[in-house]
Amino acid sequence: MTATAMVAEFDDVAGWTADAVERLGDQYAIPAACRGSASPAALAWLAEACELSAGTTLLDVGAGVGGPAAWAARRFGVRPVLVEPMPTACRAARRLFGLPVIAADGGRIPLRTSSIDTAWCLGVLCTVEDKAALLAEIHRVLRPGASLGLLVVVVARDNRWQPLPDGNHFPTQDELANVLDRTGFTLLEQTTRPDSTPLSWSRRVEEVTAAVTAQHRATPAYALAARQSERLGRLFSSGHLSMQLLHAVSR
Ligand SMILES: C[S@@+](CC[C@H](N)C(=O)[O-])C[C@H]1O[C@@H](n2cnc3c(N)ncnc32)[C@H](O)[C@@H]1O
Repeated sequence: MTATAMVAEFDDVAGWTADAVERLGDQYAIPAACRGSASPAALAWLAEACELSAGTTLLDVGAGVGGPAAWAARRFGVRPVLVEPMPTACRAARRLFGLPVIAADGGRIPLRTSSIDTAWCLGVLCTVEDKAALLAEIHRVLRPGASLGLLVVVVARDNRWQPLPDGNHFPTQDELANVLDRTGFTLLEQTTRPDSTPLSWSRRVEEVTAAVTAQHRATPAYALAARQSERLGRLFSSGHLSMQLLHAVSR
């Protein structure tokens, strides 16, 4: 990913989102801070597959603004630990949810080996070139037998004719299964992300997006981030990409 596009999409917009949520109210925080396109149904699938329960340590790698981890803490009583490389996104997650956030790359997680019960990594693998390094590091910090929940955008049809969002490296299904196996994970199940999102959730996302647009539409970072999401949206609607939920366990 070009550094500028990555910073616009994952750092500038993260900070603007937290600002807008603080103006609009707490009830906007979780939907607006789920920035890997997780919906309540997708999060529920991952939570049930990983058998989350009260007290489970949930490591969220590439946690962004922290919406998915905050959702899991509220619904299941897990103890989240967030890892995120973008400084403004880290601050946004702390501001909105008060969660513990480690500013680090997922390829070098400053946590002890076998210290984590469950990990999530949602919407991150497709933005990372060296998927094996990221997964191997998650494998190192997970205890043996622990669950990994993934949300991954995969290539559904050859997309050579359409412009990709800058810096994305979408895997094919075979590449994804292969890299999971090579890094010590057994893939247990997989499903296409459910389409339906309740209006109560999507309305809050839209209001925060409108507030961010009203305030920042004239900035170059906004234009870059908007171009990224337009390209992604076109690839989904033309059927070239598909969003998958996966449950794997660490061997
Ligand atoms: C599409 S966002 C998803 C954020 C969050 N997981 C969610 O679902 O709301 C992708 C996130 O991955 C992070 N990311 C990109 N490269 C990463 C890396 N090498 N290690 C950890 N996180 C990374 C980005 O900074 C960004 O916050």
